[in-house]
Amino acid sequence: MKQLSVEHLLGIKYLNKNDIDLIFETANHFKEVINRPIKKVPSLRDITIANLFFENSTRTKLSFELAEKRLSADVINFSASQSSVKKGETLIDTVNNILSMKVDIVVMRHPNVGAGVFLSKHVDAKIINAGDGTHEHPTQALLDSYSIHEKLGSVKGKKVVIVGDILHSRVALSNIFALQLQGAKVKVCGPTTLIPKYITSLGVEVETNIKKALEWCDVANVLRVQHERMDIKYFPSIREYTQLFGINKEILDNLGKKIVIMHPGPINRGVEITSDVADADQSIILNQVENGVAVRMAVIYLLAQQIKR
Ligand code: CP
Repeated sequence: MKQLSVEHLLGIKYLNKNDIDLIFETANHFKEVINRPIKKVPSLRDITIANLFFENSTRTKLSFELAEKRLSADVINFSASQSSVKKGETLIDTVNNILSMKVDIVVMRHPNVGAGVFLSKHVDAKIINAGDGTHEHPTQALLDSYSIHEKLGSVKGKKVVIVGDILHSRVALSNIFALQLQGAKVKVCGPTTLIPKYITSLGVEVETNIKKALEWCDVANVLRVQHERMDIKYFPSIREYTQLFGINKEILDNLGKKIVIMHPGPINRGVEITSDVADADQSIILNQVENGVAVRMAVIYLLAQQIKR
């Protein structure tokens, strides 16, 4: 049986193209499973998974939990806001207490960059990074590429522009790594204050004119502005941001071609994207959410195959 080259899913930068192909092949199988009347397989009946969320989440948390339940794993959920972290408990103590309940896999979202890597060195469980600060969100990038492949037939050779707050986005960095591994061309577009200076060293071009960016691309992955990670003002006003970088129907209708619109959520309707664009035929935003369950089932299943039992 084919195996992943990694012991944990900590970031796309640790994966190779074969890993992505294997995850997608496995996800194809699980996508078929979750569209059956009985949407469950008994594959992980002997596996226990802890979902540890130290930051807010809607899609990722629900998607992981559903993926785990569809695989028949036992699932425990932990939310930092309702836990003893508030009483001063450290990350390692929290996780070791959870692991002493015989947990095999930890899915963790944490505000600190590298939290998953740190955990993988200190605890005896498989770690899946569900977002570490502004660093990586590997399962989001995997489901994004899977959705592009599903919509356009391949990722190789496609032109993808990532629009918005690149500086604070873990989705952007993981997408850049994943898209490039599969042979896509990537540009970023946003206010220069929200584009990190190192981005060109990753082989990514910068475009500050949204119309030119959209004329160039096959796919636009639109990100929200992450005000919660900003301690200074990066642009004069939301109104100006929307005027310069917001995607609306009029801009799309003037392109003379139909591009694919993506968004990882949560959407700020009327800011980075108008409602008519978010809900348009060319938007695959809800397909991304649907595919997230199959892709996460694949990641969990493949890592669980490495556990001796
Ligand atoms: N896309 C994403 O990570 O959304 P949540 O923050 O709701 O999990």
